[in-house]
This record gives sequence, structure tokens and C-alpha cells, in this order.
Amino acid sequence: MRKEIVLLVTSIFAVNAAYALGQPRSVSGKHRANQLDCRSCHETSEPAFPPTKEVCISCHGEVVKIRPTEVAPGVMANVHESHYGEIDCLACHRIHAKGELYCNECHKFGIKVK
Ligand code: HEC
Ligand code: HEC
Ligand code: HEC
Ligand code: HEC
Repeated sequence: MRKEIVLLVTSIFAVNAAYALGQPRSVSGKHRANQLDCRSCHETSEPAFPPTKEVCISCHGEVVKIRPTEVAPGVMANVHESHYGEIDCLACHRIHAKGELYCNECHKFGIKVK
């Protein structure tokens, strides 16, 4: 039983290792439309690490203005300027995959992340 668990864990790590080896990964949405290449966000064309939020801020600025969303009758939430304060861009935006709303660690907002 224990051996099977070890094998399972090992194979999960193997998948992650292959993922980090700088394989080409597609960029969706407006980044592709604006022809950003890998080096716009990563230092190299064969990236091994995610970029830091400073990279995002270098193009977008500290706070991107967005409209608040109504999350419950009469309750507005602005995910870029909330009571929670500063949150790393990558806590929500993933660029190569669907984002996840960090706020939903505590809330249940039906807000989609680009
Ligand atoms: C707009 C910015 C942006 C562009 C352009 C971009 N990436 Fe990324 N990349 C990211 C972010 C953000 C992450 C971290 C995602 C996460 O944490 O899930 C990432 C992660 C990765 C990773 C995984 C690194 C790891 O530690 O697992 C690889 C590999 C990668 N990118 C390759 C590429 C390649 C190849 C290109 C060009 C085709 C590219 N990226 C273009 C933002 C970008
Ligand atoms: C080299 C400049 C550059 C960098 C670096 C960059 N972006 Fe962008 N981003 C753009 C441009 C240009 C657009 C399109 C703006 C428009 O058309 O209004 C865009 C659009 C977006 C959008 C709108 C959603 C979409 O794709 O349609 C999001 C979200 C976003 N960027 C997040 C990020 C995050 C997070 C990072 C850091 C990992 C990042 N960007 C890094 C230039 C950049
Ligand atoms: C708590 C989650 C969260 C964090 C943290 C976050 N974003 Fe966003 N971001 C969103 C959501 C959700 C949207 C879509 C809002 C909408 O559709 O009005 C969005 C939209 C955007 C857009 C598109 C704006 C537009 O006009 O369409 C850009 C660009 C962007 N974010 C960049 C960033 C950058 C740069 C950071 C870090 C400085 C960041 N975001 C941090 C959740 C987040
Ligand atoms: C660590 C937990 C936690 C996180 C993460 C968090 N919140 Fe909250 N939030 C709370 C608590 C606790 C309250 C106050 C209790 C309540 O009204 O539900 C609250 C209240 C709110 C309210 C007022 C709700 C009302 O009914 O008036 C809004 C809007 C809100 N949060 C937005 C956000 C947004 C946007 C994010 C993400 C950027 C976020 N929160 C992240 C815990 C959190």
C-alpha cells in the first residue's frame, strides 16, 4: 500500500519536471494578438521559471483600472483594489492557463480571470 503511494507521488513529480523544461507553451488572448514573444515575460526563449510580478508591472503599471463587479445584490467587488491589499498578479493570472480568483480562498465570487 505504502509503496503504491510513493510510486504515485513520484509520477506526479515526473510530469511537473517535463513541464518545467522550457517546452514551447502557447500564450492566449491579447498577448498573442500583440505578438509578445517568450522573452517579453521570461528572460530567455527557453524559459524554466515563471516571471515575477515586476515583469507584468513593467508593462501594465502597479494597478490596472477595472470596473467593479456586482458579486451579490448591491455588493460590488474590485479584484484589483480590495480590502485584502496587494496580491501578486500571478495569484490570479496564469497566462498559459485559465486563471484562478485568489479571493475565492475565502469568498465564492463568480468572477472569471483572463
Ligand atoms: C505575458 C507573459 C508571458 C509570456 C509572453 C510567456 N509566458 Fe511563460 N509564463 C508566464 C507566467 C505568468 C508563468 C507562470 C504560470 C503559473 O504559475 O501557472 C509562465 C510559466 C512558463 C513556464 C513554466 C515554468 C515553470 O517553472 O514551471 C514555461 C516553460 C513557459 N512559461 C514557457 C513560455 C514560452 C515557451 C513562451 C513563449 C512561447 C512563454 N512562456 C511566454 C508568462 C508568460
Ligand atoms: C511586454 C509588455 C507586456 C508584459 C510584460 C505583460 N503584458 Fe499583459 N498585456 C500586454 C498588452 C499589450 C496587452 C493587450 C492590451 C489591450 O489590448 O488592451 C495585455 C493584456 C493583458 C491582459 C488582458 C487579458 C487578455 O489576454 O486578453 C491581462 C490579464 C494581462 N495582460 C496580464 C499580464 C500579466 C499577469 C503579466 C505578467 C505575467 C503581463 N500581462 C505581462 C502587454 C504586456
Ligand atoms: C485577485 C485576482 C487578481 C489579481 C491579484 C490581479 N488581477 Fe488582473 N484581473 C483579474 C480579473 C478577475 C480580471 C477581469 C476583470 C474584468 O473582466 O473586468 C482582471 C483583468 C486584468 C487586465 C485586463 C484589464 C482590461 O481592461 O480588460 C489586466 C491587464 C490585468 N488584470 C493585469 C493585472 C496585473 C498586472 C496584476 C498585478 C499587478 C493583476 N492583474 C492582479 C484578477 C486579478
Ligand atoms: C483571507 C480571506 C479573504 C480573502 C483572501 C479575501 N477576502 Fe474579502 N472578505 C473577507 C472577510 C472575512 C470579509 C468580511 C466578512 C464578510 O462580509 O463576508 C470580507 C468582505 C469582503 C467584501 C464585502 C462583502 C459584503 O458583503 O459587503 C468584499 C466586496 C470583498 N471582501 C472582496 C474581496 C476581494 C475582491 C478579494 C480578492 C481580491 C477578497 N475579498 C479576498 C475575507 C477575505
